[in-house]
Amino acid sequence: MSLAHGAREKPRIKSGRLVLKIIILAPDCGIMAGRRKTTETSDFGVSRREGHDSSKFYSRKLYDNNGKDGTSSSGVENAVPPEYVDKVLCKSSEKMTELPDSCVHLAVTSPPYNVGKTYDQDLTLAEYRQLLKTVFSEVFRVLVTGGRVCVNVANLGRKPYIPLHSYVIADMLDIGFLMRGEIIWNKGSSAGASTAWGSWQSAANPALRDTHEYILVFSKGSFSRAAMGRYNTISKEEFLSYTKSVWEFPAESANKVGHPAPFPIELPYRCIQLYTFWGDFVLDPFCGVGSTCVAAIRTGRHFLGYETKQEYVGSALRRISKEDMT
Ligand SMILES: C[S@@+](CC[C@H](N)C(=O)[O-])C[C@H]1O[C@@H](n2cnc3c(N)ncnc32)[C@H](O)[C@@H]1O
Repeated sequence: MSLAHGAREKPRIKSGRLVLKIIILAPDCGIMAGRRKTTETSDFGVSRREGHDSSKFYSRKLYDNNGKDGTSSSGVENAVPPEYVDKVLCKSSEKMTELPDSCVHLAVTSPPYNVGKTYDQDLTLAEYRQLLKTVFSEVFRVLVTGGRVCVNVANLGRKPYIPLHSYVIADMLDIGFLMRGEIIWNKGSSAGASTAWGSWQSAANPALRDTHEYILVFSKGSFSRAAMGRYNTISKEEFLSYTKSVWEFPAESANKVGHPAPFPIELPYRCIQLYTFWGDFVLDPFCGVGSTCVAAIRTGRHFLGYETKQEYVGSALRRISKEDMT
């Protein structure tokens, strides 16, 4: 596969000259005897957190039985059978029998919302949560130790508001995932000029018009993954931007890609760049028209998508065929 979209083959090496200059000119700016002075948790917070010793914070009762990072990241990694590499399968991801345990490095997905789209069933909230839990339990099985999941969800309705993201978090923790964080995707003006504001300019019953979605991020077993000689492809600018918890980029046009609820390629692109190494394996269990697959190709990663609707599998394959996979 070729590397594109700002991908880089080799990690950058820091300039030794710059480090030396800091030692001479600013001996007490957090650097001692050639290495940084570490900080620790304090009542007043700390401004710089490089080399920060947070053991005091994590030893508090708040973290008792709270999904601590318990496993070494050097677990077994199985290979995906070659016939399922860079493919989109027309079947439900409730059972991913094609995949052995511990073979996927990252899953990026946006589940069906059970709101009446052409592909949606009419499930109760409990049935719907069970469907997602079944699929994410399979995702847990196929992820390597240290593997990550990024789940894009929006909340639903108004009367009352259904905080889907909080249900997904509860169910993912129940499965055994460790939560890494929560990204707010600010869709800004691309979210459309919704006029569902309830009572206009009146406190009688004004409604919030959501212009954001969530990307919930989890790990299996360990927060870290050893590079083991694998390359990163993220640029410095991307890293500085993607590690912030608010992301801002426009939504995808449903008409343009022929799917009622696609995410833009930018969304899986960012997740892949931040959370995987070059050549890693990326899964989308609710693949739609293959936005995750396209992002995987553009970043030099392998992929597998599951999608129940033949029509969307066809569109995904057409989009994939337009990418350079050499
Ligand atoms: C929100 S859409 C994903 C769109 C995708 N992110 C994209 O950009 O094209 C969810 C997709 O999941 C599919 N789906 C629903 N249930 C499924 C299941 N059990 N297994 C696999 N796919 C399923 C739906 O047909 C729908 O295309």
